[in-house]
Parts: sequence; C-alpha cells; structure tokens
Amino acid sequence: MPHSPIIVAIDGYSSCGKSTIAKALAKHAGYTYVDTGAMYRATALYAQRAGLTNDLLQIIPLLKNIQISFIQTPDGQHVTLNGEDVESHIRTLEVGELASQISTIKEVRAFLVAQQQAMGEKKGIVMDGRDIGTVVFPQAELKLFLTASPEVRAKRRFLELQAKGENPNLEEVLRATNERDYRDTHRAESPLRQAEDAIVVDNSEMTREEQMEHIINVFSEHCATI
Ligand code: DC
Repeated sequence: MPHSPIIVAIDGYSSCGKSTIAKALAKHAGYTYVDTGAMYRATALYAQRAGLTNDLLQIIPLLKNIQISFIQTPDGQHVTLNGEDVESHIRTLEVGELASQISTIKEVRAFLVAQQQAMGEKKGIVMDGRDIGTVVFPQAELKLFLTASPEVRAKRRFLELQAKGENPNLEEVLRATNERDYRDTHRAESPLRQAEDAIVVDNSEMTREEQMEHIINVFSEHCATI
C-alpha cells in the first residue's frame, strides 16, 4: 500500500547538491519540491533592485510588497517575484551573497518561514534549505543533512557558473564558499545546524547516481516504518 505522504526536510551547506537531490527525490516520490534558497534569493534580488544593498534592514517595511511563488516551466521549476520569472537572475554569485546576508534578518526569516510552513500543510513535500529540519518543520518525518568538503563544493559551484557562461575564479569561489559557510552557521537567527534526528549524507566522494540511490533507499526504508 502506498504510504501516507510525509515531509522530507533536506538541509546542508551551499552547493552540496541539495537541490539536485531534493528535486530527484520529489520526482521519485511524486511530491512537491520547494527550494527555500530560491525564496531568500528572490528577496535579495528585490532588495538589490530597490537599491538597498548597503542597508538591507530597509527591506523590512517592504516585505509586504514581495510575492514569491513557484511555477512549472518546460525547463523545470522556476521562482517568480511579483509575477516575474526571475530564475535566471537569482543564480549569480552576487545574489547568492546578498541572499546569505539578507537571510540573517529575523523579519525576513519570519516572513519566508510562514510561507514555507503553509506550503507543507498537506505534506507530500520535499523542502531544502538551512533550517528546514530545525525550524520550519521540526516535526518532519524524514530529515537529511547533506555535506561535502568546501573544496569539492567550490569546484562544483565553479563548474556551474562556467556552464552559465560566467567567468569565475576558483580561488574566489572557494573564498566565497567559506565565507558563506561561516555566515550561515554563525548567524544569530536560525543558523545552519544539523537536527539531532537528521541522517547525515557526506557526498564528497559520491557520484550523483550513488547519492540518488542511497537517498531513495533511505526514503523507502523510512516510509516502510511509518
Ligand atoms: O541554498 P542557496 O545557496 O540557494 O541559499 C541562498 C542563501 O539563502 C544561503 O546563503 C542561506 C540562505 N538560506 C537560509 O538562510 N535558509 C534557508 N532555508 C535557505 C537559504
């Protein structure tokens, strides 16, 4: 008998393949996928466009003007900001950096977490981010914590940026990765940390296929027990 739908929370450092895994698992399970990093990135893009880069706290009274949703396109799931498909604008190093900064603001987190919790009301969801298993859904039935070495993640990010036609510098990408890790794990508001009941997957040495197989097994075994 098919299991009743659950919530799968996937947390981990930037560029450790969370979204690839989360998307593939959602597809396998027939669940909805939610990329919460895209929501922080879209908020950061709004701030950038509004000229608030040097004083991000000014975003707080403007949050009410920000509408974020996800749409399905032939190219996969895209995030929209006030109705505009901004997927191609949010994946740059600059917006990633700004997203990491804006995500330290308590009001921004409260604004986005409330929307994320509403998206999970019916379960049947795979959500990835930094605080999903600890803050958004501490009651999630399955929590995964993905990790890989900073060097491996910087290399993956570097290749991704190159594939997008950018001209990154590997040292610079590694520096940004380390800085982002530090900020994500040391901020006062909902820092990235592993939930006590999370299953840790270090994928530094795994191929995508190996990871996928491993995670689908974990998911199936988990569902069989509930
Ligand atoms: O996963 P990502 O690189 O797209 O996320 C961009 C930034 O957003 C990341 O540096 C930290 C922040 N973030 C967060 O604070 N909480 C989440 N649940 C998801 C992302």
